Amino acid sequence: MNKKIKKIIDKKNKTKIVSLTAYSKNIAKILDKYCDIILVGDSMASVLYGLKNTHSISIENIIQHTISVKKGIKSSLLVVDMPKGTYNDLKSAKKNAKLILKLTRCDAVKIESNQKNFQIIKGLVEEKIPVMGHIGFTPQFKKKFKVQGLTKFESTKLLEEALDIERAGAFSIVLECISPNVSKRITKNLSIPTIGIGSSNFCDGQILVTDDMLGISGFYPKFVKKYINLTRIIEKAVKKYTSDVRLNKFPKKENFLSE
Ligand code: KIV
Repeated sequence: MNKKIKKIIDKKNKTKIVSLTAYSKNIAKILDKYCDIILVGDSMASVLYGLKNTHSISIENIIQHTISVKKGIKSSLLVVDMPKGTYNDLKSAKKNAKLILKLTRCDAVKIESNQKNFQIIKGLVEEKIPVMGHIGFTPQFKKKFKVQGLTKFESTKLLEEALDIERAGAFSIVLECISPNVSKRITKNLSIPTIGIGSSNFCDGQILVTDDMLGISGFYPKFVKKYINLTRIIEKAVKKYTSDVRLNKFPKKENFLSE
């Protein structure tokens, strides 16, 4: 097993796993100093490209951004989202996962569960492709946002789904917007780490979309903690630049390339 993957699994029940998303080298370089896992998420569809959901982001987009992110990473585990439609069957899943790994040199791919695609995970793992699972509110398959696991039926289904993903060979699993009790139950019953987003602190680790926690995406649901309002900070700098240019205060002599 890949050493970096083993390190992540070994953290379960010892120390929390820290994860964030990145879509570019400069951000990845900062995150790499602190994060265990960096995810090139298909959330880039809405966060970067302004699309209404994650469905139309292409594998070429994902690969291009991952190539950039990889340049900023020295130690974190680099996981890449497989876009919707790229793992509908095992043959295309293998072809597309191999393409992502080959062109980006990432460590693993992430696949959203549709409650039936466990064989895809198994098939990829058999090809020695490390896979992270993803259950709960899975934006590639569920249209309307809803907290997951609020009924007994749903909670049993989610636990079975998580166990099936573990049996298929995934090395960890994202729990998205799952109720605290169910997240706790899944985390207790699995031997692989759970990484929560909107799923309480009972998970083995946490992930957030970096642009959300930096206050630059404009999307701040209750489960996001805004650690800084970067929009305000950037705006302040841009405003100062604007006035400097208009008042002819920039560029100054010190910025000239000769004299
Ligand atoms: O696409 C993404 O950023 C994700 C995280 C929200 C887990 O899948």
